[in-house]
Amino acid sequence: MTDMTSHDDTEVLLGIGRERYVPVYKPRAMVLDHGRGSRLWDKAGKEYVDFAGGIAVCALGHADPELIEALTTQAGKLWHTSNVFNSEPPLRLAEALVTASKFAERVFLCNSGTEANEAAIKLVRKHAALQARAPDKRVIVTARGSFHGRTLAAVTATAQPKYQEGYEPLPGGFRYVDFNDLAQLEAAMAGGDVCAVMLEPVQGEGGVMPAADGYLKGVRTLCNQHDALLVLDEIQCGMGRTGPLLAHWADGVVPDVVTLAKALGGGIPIGAMLVGPEAAQTLQFGAHGTTFGGNPLAAAVARVVLQRIASPDIAANVARQSQSLREGLAAIHDELDVFDEIRGRGLMLGVVLNATFVGRAGEILDAAAARGLLLLQAGPDVLRFVPALNITDEDVAEGLMHLRAALGDIAR
Ligand SMILES: Cc1ncc(COP(=O)(O)O)c(C=O)c1O
Repeated sequence: MTDMTSHDDTEVLLGIGRERYVPVYKPRAMVLDHGRGSRLWDKAGKEYVDFAGGIAVCALGHADPELIEALTTQAGKLWHTSNVFNSEPPLRLAEALVTASKFAERVFLCNSGTEANEAAIKLVRKHAALQARAPDKRVIVTARGSFHGRTLAAVTATAQPKYQEGYEPLPGGFRYVDFNDLAQLEAAMAGGDVCAVMLEPVQGEGGVMPAADGYLKGVRTLCNQHDALLVLDEIQCGMGRTGPLLAHWADGVVPDVVTLAKALGGGIPIGAMLVGPEAAQTLQFGAHGTTFGGNPLAAAVARVVLQRIASPDIAANVARQSQSLREGLAAIHDELDVFDEIRGRGLMLGVVLNATFVGRAGEILDAAAARGLLLLQAGPDVLRFVPALNITDEDVAEGLMHLRAALGDIAR
């Protein structure tokens, strides 16, 4: 292997970032250079265990040989056609997504999560508009603490003021309720103007908060009663992250629309809106579009990602490593008294910091990185664990060891 440390221009690169990026992010002071599996190395040669997975994206880790093969083979054949011409990878991906989803009839491929949600928002409005009996049904209900993306409609669906402030006027026609509160939802739908309810089966950015037992079933019933579509945003919690390929399988509901992105491309940008029979005919020729969506390069990789993630091996590893992580986190808590709660499903886990550590998540993330662990925050006081779904026993054990050490460092 070449010596990755001989030219450490980290400081120069960090300076470019500070001066040239629109400063909407504050990345940690290292420059990641290469990775393999659940390990990453920065330009200075420091090694990290990756519990962040590129924010729940790198579901098969870094530099997976089969994904590299899919990408490079396609790169040698055809990069882009636009959607006015057919190519094989997106056609095969669409077929595979429909089959794997167990509910969808049709798929719209796009480039990101926010775009998939934007498509869903347009679809549910159009669906209501086309129903002669319901021309006034324009409202989309979403849940407080949700996160649906950063485009203007998706950020309005995102029922958290901090993402919306300063961008007014926001598009109209959104109504917010508390997550996991069916009575509030029932009241919000009583007026008959709701065309859709849009929810994450496990809220991600809001703090790793799963739907309570029976909640989504209750939501489905209300949607049926009020002639509204059920849209599930599985951009973070889908693609095997919670165990089943789609998170809502555990909730025993059939949605009308599911949005995917993040792990679908394993690190290559791609998103998808999956549509069930009720609304599969809603968007007709010219009603929506995208230049890059379903690009052959991205679709070729996503097809392999989907195949791999849908395998029983991955589901078994998610269950196994979820258990190890929970046990390891509980052991850290027994020793250092850090958490109020460990929650989530599969490899989408959150630990809620207790009173001693409230407001110190950023400090913990810094200490973890210094020890060699990449970790994320969700909401103000939750540490989020979204590693690769094929993470190994050794990586989990070493990551937990670094976390224990980091918490010890800051507890001192
Ligand atoms: C649940 C959920 N929906 C939508 C998005 C937006 O996806 P993207 O950042 O790809 O636009 C995210 C991103 O974090 C997400 O977690």
